[in-house]
Amino acid sequence: MSVLLTNIGELVTNDPDHGGTGPGGAPARTGSAPDGIGLVPDAAVVVEDGRIAWTGPAASAPAADDVVDLAGRCVLPGFVDSHSHTVFAGDRSAEFAARMTGQPYTGGGIATTVAATRAASEDALRARGTALVREMLAQGTTTVEIKSGYGQDVATEARTLRIARELTPETTYLGAHTVPAEYADDRAGYVGLVTGPMLAACAPHARWVDVFCEPAAPTAFDEDEARAVLRAGMRAGLSARVHGNQLSAGPGVRLALEVGAASVDHCTHLSDADVDALAGSWTTSGSWADDRRSGTVATLLPAVEFSTRSPYPDARRLLAAGVPVALATDCNPGSGYSSSMPFVVALAVREMRMSPAQALWSATAGGALALRRDDVGHLAVGARADLTVLDAPSHTYLAYRPGVPLVHEVWRNGTRAV
Ligand code: NIG
Ligand code: FE
Repeated sequence: MSVLLTNIGELVTNDPDHGGTGPGGAPARTGSAPDGIGLVPDAAVVVEDGRIAWTGPAASAPAADDVVDLAGRCVLPGFVDSHSHTVFAGDRSAEFAARMTGQPYTGGGIATTVAATRAASEDALRARGTALVREMLAQGTTTVEIKSGYGQDVATEARTLRIARELTPETTYLGAHTVPAEYADDRAGYVGLVTGPMLAACAPHARWVDVFCEPAAPTAFDEDEARAVLRAGMRAGLSARVHGNQLSAGPGVRLALEVGAASVDHCTHLSDADVDALAGSWTTSGSWADDRRSGTVATLLPAVEFSTRSPYPDARRLLAAGVPVALATDCNPGSGYSSSMPFVVALAVREMRMSPAQALWSATAGGALALRRDDVGHLAVGARADLTVLDAPSHTYLAYRPGVPLVHEVWRNGTRAV
């Protein structure tokens, strides 16, 4: 069964065949910003068996079993939100309100969510995670990564990841989010738990291992502790990603590069050496396939800076150096509780001076690269038919009309999901 989506005012493909850049790292090698998002005006797409079968000018589209007229709307690849913490319990709106009157964000409030998450039933956790993923889908996100990290004991971390696995294949073991209160005087004991029995219980439900490497936060992990966590996870078959350089120019980027992490997330405080090293991770190998295995993406989470009233990361510095940049929500109850990739795109454009095209690339192909996925984040022939249709004539409207619900419909795996 094939479907022709036609009368598309602007189609964003990220497809090299249309002058775009897929989730493969070419922007880093050229050292230029990824402005090429493979735009096709007055376009059509043919979807068949859940995949993209054809894209191009509507005037030359092939016939299909079914036809959908999109009345001049813009079509994008579904957003790839490569960083979220959406399985948790409890409420921290008071912490947000306090921040808005001047309290700093230190990560200390994570303990509040840990207590609520441990006390919650499996059904309550599942309901919250499911509702947030639905909320994301309604805003155009078709691929999402979900981390554990609010359990911090063996049973709750494993339960969180089992639930996350029901929602996405992109699950991340973050037992090393913070050191829980009962281990405050025995940090080594907690690292032993995270790298031992907790890892054994969680690894079957996870693709990734992550750590909050932030010496500036008293309950997060220093370089040696973080290295032990990542190495143990990798020995158990997980691939690495890192929370780093959020509150200070700490060792997170260095460590992410040392272990070959797919992404280092936050990157709010970077040294020149960090930026050079991130760029260097993309210039040592030849083909796109090699790059996907070896380079480290800088994932920026500007909804966190919005919600913690902090300075935004310097996206232009990373782009100028040739570092592939991903944008994600970091949806979590503490540092930023937005599930909206359109909001993140608008912040990236307004506050971090990315062009609308750069922000869109980073929210789609960039996210795919951060998850080392080549089947999503673009609409080349053969890619998954994950499409977001905007009630707008172009992708620029995502930043031009911030806060407006522009998502008209969403297709996932070739089927209309919203
Ligand atoms: O990505 N930085 C560490 N972890 C989360 C925040 C978690 C929380 O405050 O609950 C983050 O910002
Ligand atoms: Fe996070």
